[in-house]
Amino acid sequence: MTSPVRFERHDDVLVIISDSPPVNALGAGVRDGLNEGVSMGINDPAIKAMVIRCDGKTFFAGADITEFGKPPKGASLQDVIVMMDSSEKPIVAAIHGTALGGGCEVALACHYRVAVPSAVMGLPEVKLGLLPGAGGTQRLPRIVGVKAAIEMVAIGDPIPAKKAAEVGLVDRVVGEDSLEADAIAFAREIADKKPIPRVRDKTVAPDPQAVEEFKKKHGRRMRGFDAPAANIACVVAASELPFDEGLKFERTEFVKLMEGTQSAAQRHLFFAERQAAKIDDVDPKTTQLRPINKVGVIGAGTMGGGISMNFLSAGIAVTIVEMQQDALDRGTGVMRKNYEASAAKGRIKPDAPEKAMGLLTPTLSLDDLADCDLIIEAVYENMDVKKELFTKLDAIAKPGAILASNTSYLNVDEIAAVTKRPEDVVGMHFFSPANVMRLLEVVRGEKTAKDVLATVMALAKKIKKVAVVAGVCHGFIGNRMLSPRQIEANKLLMEGATPQQIDKVHTDFGMPMGPFQMADLAGVDIGWHRDPSRIESIRDALAAEGRWGQKKGAGYYDYDEKRNATPSPRALEIIEEFRAKSNLPKREITDQEIVERTLYPMVNEGALILEEGKAQRASDVDVVWIMGYGWPVYRGGPMFWAQNEVGLKKVVEGLEKHKFKVAESLKTAAESGSALK
Ligand code: 3HC
Repeated sequence: MTSPVRFERHDDVLVIISDSPPVNALGAGVRDGLNEGVSMGINDPAIKAMVIRCDGKTFFAGADITEFGKPPKGASLQDVIVMMDSSEKPIVAAIHGTALGGGCEVALACHYRVAVPSAVMGLPEVKLGLLPGAGGTQRLPRIVGVKAAIEMVAIGDPIPAKKAAEVGLVDRVVGEDSLEADAIAFAREIADKKPIPRVRDKTVAPDPQAVEEFKKKHGRRMRGFDAPAANIACVVAASELPFDEGLKFERTEFVKLMEGTQSAAQRHLFFAERQAAKIDDVDPKTTQLRPINKVGVIGAGTMGGGISMNFLSAGIAVTIVEMQQDALDRGTGVMRKNYEASAAKGRIKPDAPEKAMGLLTPTLSLDDLADCDLIIEAVYENMDVKKELFTKLDAIAKPGAILASNTSYLNVDEIAAVTKRPEDVVGMHFFSPANVMRLLEVVRGEKTAKDVLATVMALAKKIKKVAVVAGVCHGFIGNRMLSPRQIEANKLLMEGATPQQIDKVHTDFGMPMGPFQMADLAGVDIGWHRDPSRIESIRDALAAEGRWGQKKGAGYYDYDEKRNATPSPRALEIIEEFRAKSNLPKREITDQEIVERTLYPMVNEGALILEEGKAQRASDVDVVWIMGYGWPVYRGGPMFWAQNEVGLKKVVEGLEKHKFKVAESLKTAAESGSALK
């Protein structure tokens, strides 16, 4: 096999070039090539300095994640880095694109770094449940100090070249289009400079205050994760231990994380997210996408406004329709306020609100949607209302326009059937707040055209969503799996558990909230028949008493004016009364039973969804639950958790113990030890 690394001599400078698409990951071939190139440079008397650069869209974007967990092959990254570091001839890293993880570590082991203005550098390993395992935690703080290093390794966000130059990570920002020439010229400038600067020779002062402040500020987002603390410990070690001992500490911590379940889960999510974008029977290379330059959104409420913001932020014009002027004004006012709040917090550029709002056309007339390439309705969740609207849209929309419903439960085929163009109809289920939540369920109707599906999936990426294809079924993937959880949680209340106990099991598991905290947030009155004399469930009883959740200061919990929850004696009384009426005995419920009865049925439902072909793959189900419902990232999603943390056999046993009808595919996979597909 030919090496992905080639060497070019420019008189006394050897340029070592990696060409390993798509991201120049540091796989065995690349490491071997680097090894060979650097040895060649060291041993050739005609060479005075070396430049390492990459072809394609980026400098090394990190270790090759697909190699993790497999037997090691070729030169190790650590060995290559030691050789580079100790070279008596200076090496210059010439950076473009994203120098991430192991790629950033290669750059740090070089003696100099030059970068184009658009480059970014970072150590994002923490996002994979890991830490930089090739000296990054020891070298980075020696350049940028403990405080900045902790920010970079424990959060994992990259920094742009300009900032990198300010903090000393980059020695020179060079021309965007002249990286190689500028890097060679730079190499000649420094070729004879002695001593050669090596990061390992520097020291860094401890900064316990910065460590404490970071932990205080970010404690909440790090809750449950192992990797951030390990990253911080390594940076602290860099400030306390000699370089080689620090490296050993880093290695031990790296191996611990690599062998743990959290990193496996987070790496699973990395690939799952990318896999989700792929449609099994649609070839992106041969599918012509429909151009989407203008989007129509019907409904200027919370959902419609949030949906519109996604497109406006991506520079796509939006026409937004409401029925009444005051509702339209209110909706667009909220959008403007949201943008302005983001600008005030420095999350977007100061002129971004004007730019985005300048792309918005508010109107009261559906006819104004005639020139839209995609129309998304976000109106009341009612089949008759949607059918009426789609009938009208069919008459208004131009040929080839995509007609989408933001329904969260309804049958997209039934909606499509009222039009003469069911092939142009698709579901686009956004999650609230739609301008923030990253998940988009793209519902593929029976007749949805392949190019429509492919266009919507590509558009999702453009508006920075993670899109998952779902088939038509009640609640699609996410809400369908939510349903058995809610049903069981309610049954458990009847049998003697409290809302606090059930919610705590879920939050201890890592969910942002439990079923009853969620009900209080969404509104206990949602779906209530509004007849106080008809009390058929605890929820009815709460709703009938005006305990509609957070908005009323009372629901399953009591709330103060800042919406802080406390257990509610009245809600517990209502639960007791309701249980007494039903003549159900009260018993002690264990936390384990709550797990088995609320989480295992979700896995079962996920398996049914896969059996019915309503999701393309098990990892898509995981993406939905992580991105849309806050399933803890470090547990990899319900299907990954069931297979890798609990074990399918145990899940099946738990379901059978509690008399659930177990999905056939789940039983088979548990018996055969195979994976759910
Ligand atoms: N290893 C293996 N494959 C990788 C990879 C990596 N480090 N990074 C990306 N890929 C693959 C993706 O899976 C995807 O494959 P696909 O086309 O088959 O789905 C393809 O490359 C393109 O990736 P993206 O779709 O993500 O492309 P983008 O252009 O949107 O983003 C990127 C590029 C910013 C580089 C992004 O891919 C990324 O963030 N990659 C991971 C970076 C990272 O985490 N590096 C650290 C790795 S761990 C490490 O280095 C340990 C070390 O300390 C020892």
